[in-house]
Amino acid sequence: MEYKLLGESIQIKELNETIKQVAPTDISVLISGESGTGKEVAANAIYFFSKRKDKPYIKVNCGAIPEGIIESELFGHQKGAFTGAIETRPGYFEMADKGTIFLDEIGEMPLATQVKILRVLESGEFMKVGGNKLLKVDVRVIAATNRDLQKEVLNKNFREDLYFRLKSINLNIPPLRERKMDVKILFNNFVEGFCKKNNVTFKGIDEEAMEYVINYAWSGNARELRNFCESIIVLYPDKKLNIEDVKKHLISESPENRSLPVIQMKAREQIEKDLILRALFELKSDILELKNQIQENGTKEPHFKVLGDDFFLSKEEINSMSFDEIEKEILLYLLNNNNWDVNKVARSLGQTPRNIYLKIKKFNLSKKVS
Ligand SMILES: Nc1ncnc2c1ncn2[C@@H]1O[C@H](COP(=O)(O)OP(=O)(O)OP(=O)(O)O)[C@@H](O)[C@H]1O
Ligand SMILES: [Mg+2]
Repeated sequence: MEYKLLGESIQIKELNETIKQVAPTDISVLISGESGTGKEVAANAIYFFSKRKDKPYIKVNCGAIPEGIIESELFGHQKGAFTGAIETRPGYFEMADKGTIFLDEIGEMPLATQVKILRVLESGEFMKVGGNKLLKVDVRVIAATNRDLQKEVLNKNFREDLYFRLKSINLNIPPLRERKMDVKILFNNFVEGFCKKNNVTFKGIDEEAMEYVINYAWSGNARELRNFCESIIVLYPDKKLNIEDVKKHLISESPENRSLPVIQMKAREQIEKDLILRALFELKSDILELKNQIQENGTKEPHFKVLGDDFFLSKEEINSMSFDEIEKEILLYLLNNNNWDVNKVARSLGQTPRNIYLKIKKFNLSKKVS
């Protein structure tokens, strides 16, 4: 886990100072900033320098939990609270007792849940879904958002009282383009980390190319820089990079070049499509092989298969479909074949049920009524 905000800029230095000051207290902190600026790293740092370091640290991505189950995820539920609630379960707040909870993307939290979060912040109290007993926990809250919460308050998407409660300590991480001094440090750090982890070497980058990297707009901030570092190491294992190499991967965002990234996107989509196609074929042949082996050994069929022989998409169909469309088809097939048992489908894919619920919502899937 990364818990150090690297950077030499005055902004990062000040942020690190503030983190050191607030970390040891129990004050809740709101971290804001564009996507990829390092909000999660900052949250990790607060946890790491806090007195709760040896206690639980629970990260919750509020934007990734469907509205219908967010309260039971956060506060737990009582047995019988809703269909499928076969046992009483603790929620994240209970699990984080004495420790820290990181509410990421808090701007995505439904208004009705925000009231309950405010209550936990003020008194530590909450009730399980379907429960009637007031529970109390001791949890330090760190929240993050890439939305402008003040605007969300004006648009009535975010409760003003919760906003005021949270923003008393607000760490705003400026975009990378406003702290160009940090680019080189991050670049070196990402390159070094990736090389070490993958046991590869990087031949370096010349001065002119580095200048270009430093002045690039980095609209995806440090995350985009990290991805860039990783791809150049993979693509140029034996070469010191010059400005031409770098430019191929960093298209200037000036108006005359606006159309270029689209071409890049297309290429990426194609690569993704190829990858999924290959994965699908490999999966299918693995399953066939497994089946043959089992039959040869005279044992029974495996108790479940990920994709059965009846799942079929022609090569033409796959080529004309987007990555999302293929994923949607596979998911729908699996759900229909497993009686819409989301837990089972999630297990067979090695995913969390929450992820599957999310996809169901994203693709607007519903059970076939026959
Ligand atoms: N100052 C920094 N020092 C070291 N690593 C950083 C820094 N800022 C960002 N990173 C790295 O960049 C990547 C993106 O950071 P992070 O996930 O914290 O961004 P985020 O603000 O939470 O983004 P999002 O809003 O999309 O969730 C991570 O790999 C993180 O380790
Ligand atoms: Mg994040």
